[in-house]
Amino acid sequence: MREIIAKTRTFRRFFQKELISSDVMHELVDLARLGGSARNGQPWQYMIINTPELCEKVFPFLGWAGYLSDWKGPVEGERPSGYILCLLNTNWLKGPESEAQFDLGVATQNLLLAAMEKRIGGCRIASINPKLATLFDLPAHLTISLVIALGRPRETVILEECKTDSDIKYWRDDDGVHHVPKRSLENCLITLDVVV
Ligand SMILES: Cc1cc2nc3c(=O)[nH]c(=O)nc-3n(C[C@H](O)[C@H](O)[C@H](O)COP(=O)(O)O)c2cc1C
Repeated sequence: MREIIAKTRTFRRFFQKELISSDVMHELVDLARLGGSARNGQPWQYMIINTPELCEKVFPFLGWAGYLSDWKGPVEGERPSGYILCLLNTNWLKGPESEAQFDLGVATQNLLLAAMEKRIGGCRIASINPKLATLFDLPAHLTISLVIALGRPRETVILEECKTDSDIKYWRDDDGVHHVPKRSLENCLITLDVVV
């Protein structure tokens, strides 16, 4: 479990020509839908995009790696070969929207773990130009909240430990290796004084 979780990193450069079948996409969504859900409301729906034509239409609306300021996102040939649009269905919302966002974290982690097991990497993208919605005939009860970009990874991503509290920015070295600092276990554990 540790190995697969540690391997399931965010990837942003892919072998674009290696398409992802609809069967595989369905398998991934099938595991997303089994995640825990507040009040078991399950308010998320997923649209699969796995044709080069539609991928090309979606790409310009996505924001990539804010901390890599001199990188404009993956170039042609390195772009995702598929996307999953995560749509919030407000007709199925049972509580506050914040609960639904927790559900989406659970669901997308299932999805990305399952993808990695198939050597498919992904990137959750919340930085979405709202005009993305204009590509689709979107009913009023659906909102595109997150896009998951997918493809066979074309980059190496390694974890490292944060050196200071504020050392959280991922970075890319001269060899193109992407480094992701994570807070140490020691820093993540906390013991509060019990006052009652
Ligand atoms: C909710 C969420 C939204 C994210 N949105 C973006 C995004 O818009 N663009 C992007 O390039 N990466 C995005 N990411 C990826 C994060 O930058 C990435 O998870 C973080 O750098 C840590 O890397 P790791 O996933 O390998 O642990 C998002 C991740 C999450 C969980």
